[in-house]
Formats: sequence, C-alpha cells, structure tokens
Amino acid sequence: MIQLIKGFKDVLPGEIEVWQTIERAAKETFENFGFQELRLPIVEKSELFSRSIGDTTDIVEKEMYTFEDGKRGHVTLRPEATASVVRSYIQHKMYAKDPIRKFYTIGPMFRRERPQKGRYRQFYQIDAEVFGIDSPYLDAQLIFMLATLLEKLKARDVKAHINSLGCPCCRPNFQKALKELLDAKKDSLCENCLRRSEKNPLRVLDCKVPSCREAVAGAPSILDHLCDDCRDHFETVKSVLTENGVEFEVDTRLVRGLDYYTRTAFEVLTTSLGAQNAVAGGGRYDGLVKALGGPEMPAIGFAIGFDRLAEIVAMQQTIEADGPTLYIAPLGEKATEKAASWAMQLAARGVFCETDFAGRSLKSHMKRADKLKAAHVLMLGDDELDRGVAALRNMATKEQWDLPLDGLVETLVERFN
Ligand code: HAM
Repeated sequence: MIQLIKGFKDVLPGEIEVWQTIERAAKETFENFGFQELRLPIVEKSELFSRSIGDTTDIVEKEMYTFEDGKRGHVTLRPEATASVVRSYIQHKMYAKDPIRKFYTIGPMFRRERPQKGRYRQFYQIDAEVFGIDSPYLDAQLIFMLATLLEKLKARDVKAHINSLGCPCCRPNFQKALKELLDAKKDSLCENCLRRSEKNPLRVLDCKVPSCREAVAGAPSILDHLCDDCRDHFETVKSVLTENGVEFEVDTRLVRGLDYYTRTAFEVLTTSLGAQNAVAGGGRYDGLVKALGGPEMPAIGFAIGFDRLAEIVAMQQTIEADGPTLYIAPLGEKATEKAASWAMQLAARGVFCETDFAGRSLKSHMKRADKLKAAHVLMLGDDELDRGVAALRNMATKEQWDLPLDGLVETLVERFN
C-alpha cells in the first residue's frame, strides 16, 4: 500500500471541523478589520524567496523545495506567503490605485525541515499583510487583531512576545556590538552560529544550542541601540497594546528566522505544543517592497501556523460536525421514490437532509438517523401514504406531528430555514 510521505498529512473528518471553524473565524475577523482575500500560486521563481527571505536564512539555505522547470529556470514551492503577496502587490501595481491595501491569504506552505510534532514539510498558514501605513498604531492593531481571533477561538496558553529589530539606521550599530561579543566567544559557538556570526549575527541570538545560549547570555539588548524614531515607534506599539488589553511580553532575543524585518517583530507562543511553540509570527518589513522592485512602501504582516493553531484548539475544546436537520425514512418502494426526490429538493433549498435507498426497516432507519445525529426524522410508510401524510419526529424531544403530503417540501423548507 502506498502511504503518505513523512512530514505531510491528511486532514480528515473529525479534525477538519476545527480547521473549518478556524478558517471561518479568521475570515470574519480579518474582514471586519478591512482585509481582502488573495489566492496566490504555490510555485514561484526561486529568486523571489532568496531575495526576500534572505540567502543566509535556514529556509533558503536548506529547506526549500526547488526544482528546474525548463525555460523558467529554478522554481520553488513557496515556503511562506509574504514574498508572494509582495510580488503580487508590485506586479499588479496595486499601489497605484491606493497604496493602502490589506490582504489575507490562506494555504499550504512547504519547508524541508526535519519533521516532528508540530513541524511539517507541508503546513498551512493564515497570512495577513498590510501595505502603505508606517504608523505604530497599525502594528498594535495587527497584534490586537491576532489576539482577537485567538480569543474568539478560545485558544488558551498563548501569549504575544514582541521586540523591535530597528531600522537600517540603527541596526548596524547593534550588529557591530553583537559581532564584537561573538568574536570574543568564537570557541563556544556551534558551527551554524560561527557562520551566522559572520553573515547574520542577529540569528545567533535565536540559537537553541546550550553553549551558544550561554555565549550570548550577556549580549547587549537591541532595544538599547534603537534610534529615536524606532524607540518612539516601539513605545507607542507597547502603550496602545496595553491600553487595549493585549497581554504581551517584551523579548529582546526575538529575532525571527526571515531577513526582511524592520522595527516591530512579534510571535505568539504557546506552552501547549512542546518544542514547536510558535503559533504565529510576523513583523514590519518596510524595505521589502522597494527591494523587490516596487516603490518605497512600508508594510507589516503576520502568519498563523494553521496546523499548530488547530492542534491547540482541538486540545482545548470539542468541535463536531452538525448532523442533518432531517433524515427521511421511507418504508417500501413507493415511499423511497418520494423520499429520493424530496431529499434532493430540500437539500437544494438549504435544508441539510439525508435519506437512504436500501429498503431498510423502520428500526434500521432509526439507527442510521441516530448514527448520523439527525435532528428530525420524517417517516413515510404505506399507512401514512394512505392517509396522505408523513410523520415528522423531533429526535431530541420525541414530539411527533403528521404533515400533509400536499406541499410537504414547502412546509419543511419553511419550518427548517
Ligand atoms: P514564520 O515565523 O516563518 O513567519 O512562520 C509563521 C508561522 O508558521 C510559525 O509561527 C508557525 O506557527 C508556522 N510554521 C512555520 N514553519 C512550520 C512548519 N514546518 N510546520 C508547521 N508550522 C510551521 C513567516 O512565514 C512570515 N511570512 C510571517 C509574516 C507575514 N511576516 C510578515 N508577514
């Protein structure tokens, strides 16, 4: 038997109800905040990701599914959505009509990471991006929107962690100070960090290897190196979050695994998922639109790890699919013929309706209705046909009514819609 590949998974009934609940809540929440949906391709030119996420990041260095596609050269299964959203914003000159745009997009992403609980090679993100606003109020609003969604989904054990990564004005000073410390601690750094300390010293702050953690224990804080503008920006983000009741923690070691960030960076962490504790991550990326060939344009966004959020929600509550509103139980050939057409007409007119054509006994029909968790059963046997009625039973209260066959579909549509 052919089985699925490690790191990939099927989302089946039993689990999908949680996914659907999350997706509905996300769309509703984001649309209330003025976001519009985008559907973007899963495959893009590899260069889009190396130029945006950064050549020296783990994602680009070793986790991309890249292949050659004839004349198109190297193409990649998208490891994240931001680069594609930016590409689309630039390509369609969306800024020309109105530079301020808010988008969300939901779909699969691909990273060739070592699979483990909460870490997959195909995973899903719910991604939100805003262009054209540099105000710190927006940063706070976006984190607030994320917190609102998590609250709506009753996700417990989640907390926002925030930091500022500065801007091209002030970050080099911090990088210099950090690099000096790393050079002095070379002997304690893992092989990865030795490389990172040359090209991307900030990433060393994020390393989980104990000797590296120790080496950077006394590292300077990036917050002490911010320029006045970046400091004011970060202060406003924090105060607006506090005023609006969003709990957060300032984490000066939060650096994110992608290179495009400037100023506010944030993650939502959980204590419920073990090592893979990031449920969402994001931040400002004011230089990326320009770097990818667009105009100078501030931007900020985040992505929720859909799989991880679904795991948390499923752990904390039970969400089951609704059963049919109506199950039609026909007894005999003539009744089955009627049931078949009523079931089609009712479903077409918005009543969730099931029936069965197998010529079951009444007892067997009732068992099936119970199994499907039907709210009502409509019984139609020879006796009812003779009397020109069908018997409708409410399965919870056991109440029963005779409904005339004349105009029955209309009666049921009115009753159940
Ligand atoms: P990221 O932190 O790489 O950010 O990913 C966002 C979220 O995707 C993570 O917090 C995690 O929940 C989920 N995730 C990442 N990798 C995996 C995996 N292998 N398996 C399961 N879940 C995973 C970004 O992707 C940025 N594009 C976010 C962003 C949007 N920044 C600005 N705009």
